[in-house]
Amino acid sequence: MAETFILKIYRGTPGNQYWEEFELDLVPFANVISSLMEIEKNPVNRKGEKVDPVVWEQGCLEEVCGSCSMLINGYPRQACTALIEPIIKETGNNTIVLAPFTKFPLVRDLIVDRSIMFDNLKKAHAWIDTDLTFDSGPGPRISPKVQQVMYALSTCMTCGCCSESCPNVNSKTKFMGPAPLSTVRLLNMHPIGMTQRGERLNALMEEGGIAGCGNAQNCVKVCPKGIPLTDSIAEIGRAVTMQALRNIFGRPEDE
Ligand code: SF4
Ligand code: SF4
Ligand code: FES
Repeated sequence: MAETFILKIYRGTPGNQYWEEFELDLVPFANVISSLMEIEKNPVNRKGEKVDPVVWEQGCLEEVCGSCSMLINGYPRQACTALIEPIIKETGNNTIVLAPFTKFPLVRDLIVDRSIMFDNLKKAHAWIDTDLTFDSGPGPRISPKVQQVMYALSTCMTCGCCSESCPNVNSKTKFMGPAPLSTVRLLNMHPIGMTQRGERLNALMEEGGIAGCGNAQNCVKVCPKGIPLTDSIAEIGRAVTMQALRNIFGRPEDE
């Protein structure tokens, strides 16, 4: 008989969540998404009942879009890169527990609404205004050393793992979480983006900005892209202080 494993899934809609188990054949290189697809083909639970297929979100299937993020055995990560066999080997348990993120509004089953992350990027002016109506020539040079740091920061996929793990992101606070802070660092490092840094840094002085971080450092441990979030928070903390001084003493866009 084929070896099997169990997906124990916290599913349902807001106010009506329940656990449901599915037993699946253990096939080489299966991951959480391919296993959910197997359930979709034949949505019969461990009790033998035909149920509604489990719903989840996915996009790129290569850990770039962040849409498949969920709690896998309680850890925030992407379902598309969560291979079944290594998880079973690591835990010594053939039951894998899936649950939706808890820091975002639940839609259904494993889908949450992460729009707040995009709203926070908007609040922080997380883009660079440019005038493309004329050819402004090649952009300013950026040194390879700076490029290296910027590249690491640019890999953020707005997956929400950092917010999920952050004790300061909760229903009692408006803290935007570390991802927008790190993105502001990225945009402020850019020679053109730097010209709009005042707008971004002033936004981070508002409620929900940098002051919400309690420095628990969970975020940096869970970020699947290895983004140095605590370095970004420290950098942005210093930059916000400098901006506050510029606001008081004038010359807001000077070094
Ligand atoms: S900083 Fe890391 S954990 Fe947070 S949203 Fe970006 S990629 Fe995800
Ligand atoms: S350092 Fe701690 S409090 Fe600050 S964003 Fe990261 S997890 Fe949240
Ligand atoms: S589907 Fe895009 S990160 Fe998993």
